[in-house]
Amino acid sequence: MKNIVLSNEQIQSICARIGKEITDLVKKEDRVPVIVGVMKGSMNFMMDLLKYVDAPVYTDYIQISSYEGTSSTGVIRLVKDLSFDCRGRTVIIVEDIIDTGTSMKYLIKHIKSHDPAKVLVCALFDKINARPEPFHTDFVGVTLEKNDFLIGYGLDYNELGRNIPYVYSATKEDVAELDAILNKDSK
Ligand code: IMP
Ligand code: MG
Repeated sequence: MKNIVLSNEQIQSICARIGKEITDLVKKEDRVPVIVGVMKGSMNFMMDLLKYVDAPVYTDYIQISSYEGTSSTGVIRLVKDLSFDCRGRTVIIVEDIIDTGTSMKYLIKHIKSHDPAKVLVCALFDKINARPEPFHTDFVGVTLEKNDFLIGYGLDYNELGRNIPYVYSATKEDVAELDAILNKDSK
């Protein structure tokens, strides 16, 4: 049995709630905002969330990498930049999880270099005790007090587990099982 943190039903109700919050914000904007999904972790969340945004928005994607296994390498690499011109528009960054905040800080700084009107942050999970300094998240699914390693619904362990429709907190046994799959596959 897995330690389920969010079932797919719970995820859908979070998407409906945040989708409504984003809709209300978008309706107040003069120009059409851009919702930017951070690949690959936020893809599942982004796709479900967008279904609940009932106002005109543009979408774009950016890809960075920093994680290996269950810990951040701390070094961020830009894999794919924005392709949509965000100048003068509000950008809403959609992430799966904010952990130490290093990735989000990098993303905000980088996206600001594209000259948007403002940058807002949306995350399915916010691990509030994992970062050295507090960090403002505009739209949050779940605030996490514990720094567990989560898998499923876009969140991966060495690229495995993104396809699982719910999110679970990984035990040592779960990680060992995934390591066995990875070892077998690399032969
Ligand atoms: P940060 O830079 O330390 O905030 O890490 C953020 C990124 O690390 C997220 O976008 C995820 O891709 C990844 N990450 C952080 N925590 C977890 C987790 O519990 N499971 C899977 N990926 C995670
Ligand atoms: Mg990510």
